[in-house]
Amino acid sequence: MASFLSYVLFLISLFSTLFLSINGVLPNGYFSEAKPIKRTEKLSHLHFYFHDILSGKTPSAVKIISSPPKAKSATGLFGTTFMTDDALTVGQEPTSKIVGRAQGFYSAASQSDVSFLMVMNYVFTEGKYNGSTISILGRNPVLDDVREMPIVGGSGLFRFARGYALAHTVWFDPKTGDAIVEYNVFVLHY
Ligand SMILES: *[C@@H]1O[C@H](CO)[C@@H](O)[C@H](O)[C@H]1NC(C)=O
Repeated sequence: MASFLSYVLFLISLFSTLFLSINGVLPNGYFSEAKPIKRTEKLSHLHFYFHDILSGKTPSAVKIISSPPKAKSATGLFGTTFMTDDALTVGQEPTSKIVGRAQGFYSAASQSDVSFLMVMNYVFTEGKYNGSTISILGRNPVLDDVREMPIVGGSGLFRFARGYALAHTVWFDPKTGDAIVEYNVFVLHY
């Protein structure tokens, strides 16, 4: 009697395991099964100004690597790297409302002109995007009027982000290297 009962229990557990596995309730190993989704992608346009301030007592961009002597380049900059925590503002003036920060680094990556490798997370600190980020990884030939850089990802409201940023320098001080850059960002996300 006891063995018949355990046989029945065994059959029940076998079939329920099979049934649940087929229905995707039990993960197959570590990964759960991929599920088809239907979601609408949005295109957002963001407009702001980036303040890259190297001068003064509290610069928001600091040189962390100088070009080594053996790095021969037309500009003398090759390899030079700056780490930034630059303000992103609504308007062009330095006193304009801050809506985010550009945290990351840029490195002189060209031996023949002034082109930077940009590795940046732009974190927004206002409104519905507060805490959301977009990640930029691109080439920035800073003397060009408009530079296009890819948005390669994001977080928060910008999960699954991809798109592009258009950067246009609106003010530059050649003595200090300080610059204000207008950004138009077009980003697809869910
Ligand atoms: C943005 O989020 C942070 C962290 O949750 C919070 O402390 C801050 O007050 C928020 N700012 C605005 C303007 O909502």
